[in-house]
Amino acid sequence: MEKICIIGVGYVGLVSGAGLSEFGNEVTCVDLDEERIKQLNNGEIPIYEPGLKSLVKTNYNNKKLRFSSDINKSIKNSKIIFIAVGTPQKKDGEADLSYVYAVANSIADNLNHYKIICTKSTVPVGSGEEIEKILLSKNDAKLFDYVSNPEFLREGSAVNDFMIPDRLVIGSRSNKAFSLMKNVYRPLFINETPIINTSVETAEMIKYASNAFLALKISYINEIANLCEAVGADVHQVAKAMGQDGRISPKFLHPGPGFGGSCFPKDTLALSFLGTKNKLPLKTIEAAIEVNNNQSIRMVEKLIFLLDNKISNKKIAILGLAFKPNTDDVREAASRKIIPELIKLGAQINAYDPVAMDNFKHHFPDINYFNSWEDAITGTDACVILTEWNELRGIDLRKLKSLMSKPVILDTKNILSVSKLKNLEFKYDNVGRKISL
Ligand code: UDX
Ligand code: UDX
Repeated sequence: MEKICIIGVGYVGLVSGAGLSEFGNEVTCVDLDEERIKQLNNGEIPIYEPGLKSLVKTNYNNKKLRFSSDINKSIKNSKIIFIAVGTPQKKDGEADLSYVYAVANSIADNLNHYKIICTKSTVPVGSGEEIEKILLSKNDAKLFDYVSNPEFLREGSAVNDFMIPDRLVIGSRSNKAFSLMKNVYRPLFINETPIINTSVETAEMIKYASNAFLALKISYINEIANLCEAVGADVHQVAKAMGQDGRISPKFLHPGPGFGGSCFPKDTLALSFLGTKNKLPLKTIEAAIEVNNNQSIRMVEKLIFLLDNKISNKKIAILGLAFKPNTDDVREAASRKIIPELIKLGAQINAYDPVAMDNFKHHFPDINYFNSWEDAITGTDACVILTEWNELRGIDLRKLKSLMSKPVILDTKNILSVSKLKNLEFKYDNVGRKISL
């Protein structure tokens, strides 16, 4: 078991920190945001993530997990340093590594004995080499080994994804570094989790290639869904039959308003930028991005059609603001693309989400928020479902109809029963199944 310091306590940093302490390592999590560290030391979890609170609490109480704002002391006291700060996108789509390099400089100032420096943030291929240059500018090469250890956790199931990953990717330049990392993840090793022992550059590419491929799969099924509507096919049966071919897999073939979140939008842009920079433009990824941008617009067009081109002054209920269920994260959510378009067209917005409204209010303070879907849809002219929360999957359609002023619904996540909508004479639309109006 190792002494570990995690720098950047966001989704990736906090879940990894709690998970690695659960594996028996001694973990100190450090963040620039002192308020966040204070919250964590008070037992408050700054993000909504199922199972995280108890994992943090258990390991905090048995002194395996600590939170600190003292980056220098925490680095000095640790053997393995994880970089998990944000890598947001620049205007041109390139990944902004300024936080990563700032942290690398702090580490370079505190190499008091041999350490592993390991990046968990998603960074473009070649970033590892840049980080090594920063470390070497102030230290002898013998004092550290650099490792790329990308994280594949999904928000909403992050704890489970960390504790039972499909694979563990360790990119390093020495067997010494690889065996130390194996020790850090010892419980996964015992559970025979596949461990990929590869180079730093290949590990960096594995992360981008995986995320971008999943995004591509989503854009593909969204285009197929749109075509299904035109030719009278059912996208769900198409996806099911496709997925029964083991080479395709049924996963990530759910059509909808387009992919969102803190990763796919920025990682596809960053990978596309990397391709262009190397004079090898990635046409597939460029197309996936374009299709994704068009998909949210298509949802607006569907609603305009459902409302006979009369949106101005209409009251529209939006159910689901988070970019996906089981998270309060609204980064790049479809709701943030669709709601401004509806407001531009003169609509009034009634919004409801089980957990993401506080985060959403930062971006849209002037729309109406309600504490239940019933209150949000009361007296509205149309309702749009944007996130497939379980609460909305089980929605009582008869009650929904009785509360709305007009039974008009756009189900962008295809969670409602088409036969029930028909029986109740809703005017409705969804994604990938022809509607008969
Ligand atoms: C991050 C990256 O954004 C993503 O690219 C990568 O895939 C995984 O890690 P996430 O954990 O969601 O994703 O980031 P975020 O929630 O933004 O948290 C980053 C944390 O780092 C914040 O708490 C921020 O305060 C902290 N930080 C940032 C530092 O402690 N020091 C810095 O210099 C910059
Ligand atoms: C993603 C990757 O899955 C994860 O491995 C990586 O570490 C971080 O990025 P996350 O962004 O949390 O995780 O969410 P994910 O479950 O992948 O969903 C991303 C977006 O795609 C969401 O907007 C979701 O609604 C959408 N999606 C997903 C679809 O539209 N259809 C699908 O079939 C699957």
